[in-house]
Amino acid sequence: MKSVTVALGSRSYEVEIGAGTLAGAGERLRPVARGRPLAIVADENVAGHLATLTASLDAAGIAHASLSVPAGEASKSWAGVARVCDWLLARGVERGDHVVALGGGVIGDLVGFAAAILKRGTRFVQVPTTLLAQVDSSVGGKTGINTAAGKNLVGAFHQPSLVLIDPAVLQTLPARELAAGYAEVVKYGLIDDAGFFDWCAANGAALLAGDERLRTEAIAHSVAAKARIVAADEHETGGIRALLNLGHTFGHALEAEAGFDGSLIHGEAVAAGIALAFRFSVGSGLCPADDAARVAAHFRDVGLPDGLAAAGITASGARLVEHMRHDKKMEGGTLPFLLAHGIGRTFLDRTVDLGAVEAFLDGEPR
Ligand SMILES: NC(=O)c1ccc[n+]([C@@H]2O[C@H](COP(=O)([O-])OP(=O)(O)OC[C@H]3O[C@@H](n4cnc5c(N)ncnc54)[C@H](O)[C@@H]3O)[C@@H](O)[C@H]2O)c1
Ligand SMILES: [Zn+2]
Repeated sequence: MKSVTVALGSRSYEVEIGAGTLAGAGERLRPVARGRPLAIVADENVAGHLATLTASLDAAGIAHASLSVPAGEASKSWAGVARVCDWLLARGVERGDHVVALGGGVIGDLVGFAAAILKRGTRFVQVPTTLLAQVDSSVGGKTGINTAAGKNLVGAFHQPSLVLIDPAVLQTLPARELAAGYAEVVKYGLIDDAGFFDWCAANGAALLAGDERLRTEAIAHSVAAKARIVAADEHETGGIRALLNLGHTFGHALEAEAGFDGSLIHGEAVAAGIALAFRFSVGSGLCPADDAARVAAHFRDVGLPDGLAAAGITASGARLVEHMRHDKKMEGGTLPFLLAHGIGRTFLDRTVDLGAVEAFLDGEPR
């Protein structure tokens, strides 16, 4: 069992990582529940893991009730948050009670937001079941929902009081979702940890093939990286937390172009976006070409897209830049880009010319 502390003063919490975390959750949650029943909100696709969790709660003598939420981004909505809040209120949830979020980033963001607004702030526990949620969304306290105007435009910073990560739950996760989550693992190496990128290049394929020891190691390393960044810049005001957006400005444009129909999922778009950010950095004379080539080669090795062609995007540079203009990070006509001086040397550049981005994208193979 590994444990990582997210150090945020009075809002600090532990992230516990290891096989058996789910089956042993009852003991760990006893002091959290404080003799009160636990409300669990679970993705409909993790019923088997919900059964493991509730058996553990039964064994620990903790009463519980659960709400099943339909899988998919559509649940992260006004209707979804109303349903969760109404269910919790009907159950008589009190301010000091804990709600457990069991599922991927959709459930974590939805339940975290419901907890943030319910009775002006109830507590919650994250039990993430996708690799993306385990290495990224369950840690750091960003919660929210999607609206007609776009993704994640309504939300709150609300930190969980505990995160329980069991790598064994990934055994039921579809391979494509697993690989997509792995793109965010690689991202931590590329941001500021070249040694971890080397580790990924050496172990990524075996990790994805099912090696649980390697999965645990990658999750623990990623969580520690995210915890460090969040502790330094909880509300993304200091320019440090923004580093986590590496590949995301390009990636979001590809996602928007693909149309959120499942043809290009988030982590796949991020992998392609990271490869593009590195090649754009090379073209701007900032980064050695060899580093960009190594990044792209690793994504190809593990079956992730390494650019527009592999992501199935044929749109023009102008069209992709038009998507970027609608990015919620757009401020006063400029868009902050994460560029790289090399592997492990990512930096924020607020002066990138969108015309140069358009020309670069037009030069990328389709
Ligand atoms: N809060 C943050 O900091 C943050 C960071 C990154 C992403 N996000 C958000 O996270 C969401 C994406 O999260 P995600 O990639 O986990 O997607 P997701 O929650 O939609 O899960 C992906 C799919 O896997 C299924 N699933 C989940 N766990 C499973 C398991 N163990 N076995 C089998 N199937 C399983 C789900 O039903 C779903 O179909 C997006 O809404 C994104 O905005 C939030
Ligand atoms: Zn992401």
